[in-house]
Amino acid sequence: MYQSGPNPDLGERIDSAYQCPEIAAHRKHLLEILSPDVGETVLDIGSGPGFLASDIGRCVGALGEVIGVDISEQMVAFATANNADAWVSFCQGDAEALPFNRESFDVVVSTQVAEYVADADRFCTEVARVLRPGGRALISVTDWRGVTWHAKNEARMNTVMNAFSLHCAQQDLPRTLAPRLRNAGLDIDRVVCFPIVSLGEHDGSYCHVLAAFVLQFMLASGLADRKKMDGWLDDLRQLKKSKECFFSVNRYDFVARKGLSADGWSAKGRIIH
Ligand SMILES: C[S@@+](CC[C@H](N)C(=O)[O-])C[C@H]1O[C@@H](n2cnc3c(N)ncnc32)[C@H](O)[C@@H]1O
Repeated sequence: MYQSGPNPDLGERIDSAYQCPEIAAHRKHLLEILSPDVGETVLDIGSGPGFLASDIGRCVGALGEVIGVDISEQMVAFATANNADAWVSFCQGDAEALPFNRESFDVVVSTQVAEYVADADRFCTEVARVLRPGGRALISVTDWRGVTWHAKNEARMNTVMNAFSLHCAQQDLPRTLAPRLRNAGLDIDRVVCFPIVSLGEHDGSYCHVLAAFVLQFMLASGLADRKKMDGWLDDLRQLKKSKECFFSVNRYDFVARKGLSADGWSAKGRIIH
């Protein structure tokens, strides 16, 4: 609980971060929104440990194809080692310059990645480029500026979380993503809000996982010293003891579509008359 000691290894860190109940519930929700069909070709940009790509792989089956692309060699290696399906694969690549031809995919998905890329417009242009006409995209982003996290010392919590929002490049992305996607040539179908709420009762809860990440970022970046962060952690520990924890953050899932060309032809053939 609220670890302040040495880091566990990569596998353990990935499991605790991506398999905690709140994140697994969001993956299930994303799969429902996406509703992949048998035989579809899907690109997962910033696929990380590959859990969502593997879930999508089970939906599209051997007639389809899922490719996960990630900038991190470690993540690609982890995802590859944990994948059993021949039609699901992972490769290294940059979301701002995807290593795929235009109009290659029926579906493009990217979750909790766009907020980390340096150029969010370039990211959107790349999504639109690799999507076939008539194809759909699902882009999920976290509102790191909108975290609600109860603490006895509210001023310190606000200072820490304001500084922590700098861990990503695009803090305002939930507010600006719709026009960026439209400018890239996509139509927005809908935006779904997925709240992550944690009362921090279990050691594997999302807020415990996040606390470890916040601690690591704040110390490594020099944005706070050990004394301040020990006080911050102690505050959270006391609230856990008295069962007064409350944590909440929203994720926004943007569902977009690439229109068909004027004559109704897509790269894969006639879709409408
Ligand atoms: C918060 S993780 C999300 C992983 C996964 N999409 C999920 O939701 O479980 C962000 C991932 O984006 C990757 N990433 C960050 N910048 C990237 C870029 N420019 N191109 C490709 N991947 C990137 C990171 O390596 C990391 O695996």
